[in-house]
Amino acid sequence: MSAHGRVEADPAALASAESFRAAMRSVAGGVTVITAGAGDDRSGLTATSVVSVCLEPPTVLVCVNRSSSTWPLIQRYRHFGVNVLASHHEHVANQFAGRDGIKGPDRYANADWLSLSTGALILADAIIGIDCEVDESIDRATHSIILGRVKAVHAPDGGDPLLYWRGDFGRLTR
Ligand SMILES: Cc1cc2nc3c(=O)[nH]c(=O)nc-3n(C[C@H](O)[C@H](O)[C@H](O)COP(=O)(O)O)c2cc1C
Repeated sequence: MSAHGRVEADPAALASAESFRAAMRSVAGGVTVITAGAGDDRSGLTATSVVSVCLEPPTVLVCVNRSSSTWPLIQRYRHFGVNVLASHHEHVANQFAGRDGIKGPDRYANADWLSLSTGALILADAIIGIDCEVDESIDRATHSIILGRVKAVHAPDGGDPLLYWRGDFGRLTR
């Protein structure tokens, strides 16, 4: 090997949708629930695509599929909650992923919620709850990159995070 490492071309590695999906399944991450809407006009989704954008002004982004029930609610109400799930919230993650056909307000069952500034619902015992106003929405193919201006933060002592890796939920061990 040279001082700068060896570089080899691998023509077999050209990306297909399948190889890209498999690649992204290998990115371990925290799990969030995005809440949207109000009252009976409520839904939400489980999301791993949450990223901090900048501190000044405090801004986060999440990528939301435009065909999901949550996307139109975020566009209409102009606010959303980002809830970082704890390891005991696997049932909440499954509900908001729509497993077993759970839809709309029923996704909020078996958990306690509170409202901070915008009206978005925040999980009372989340690791962190972030209350956001929609700043901008950028459409890219099937998804929108939704930029949220942070209006309030709920920081209870939420315990260990729920993780997602290669199609399964897991817990942090260290
Ligand atoms: C671990 C995990 C992470 C997910 N991350 C995202 C995401 O970042 N963006 C997204 O649009 N959907 C994501 N999904 C899928 C949505 O949770 C799911 O499609 C949605 O809840 C279905 O909503 P609907 O029945 O309201 O259409 C994820 C699902 C799981 C299980």
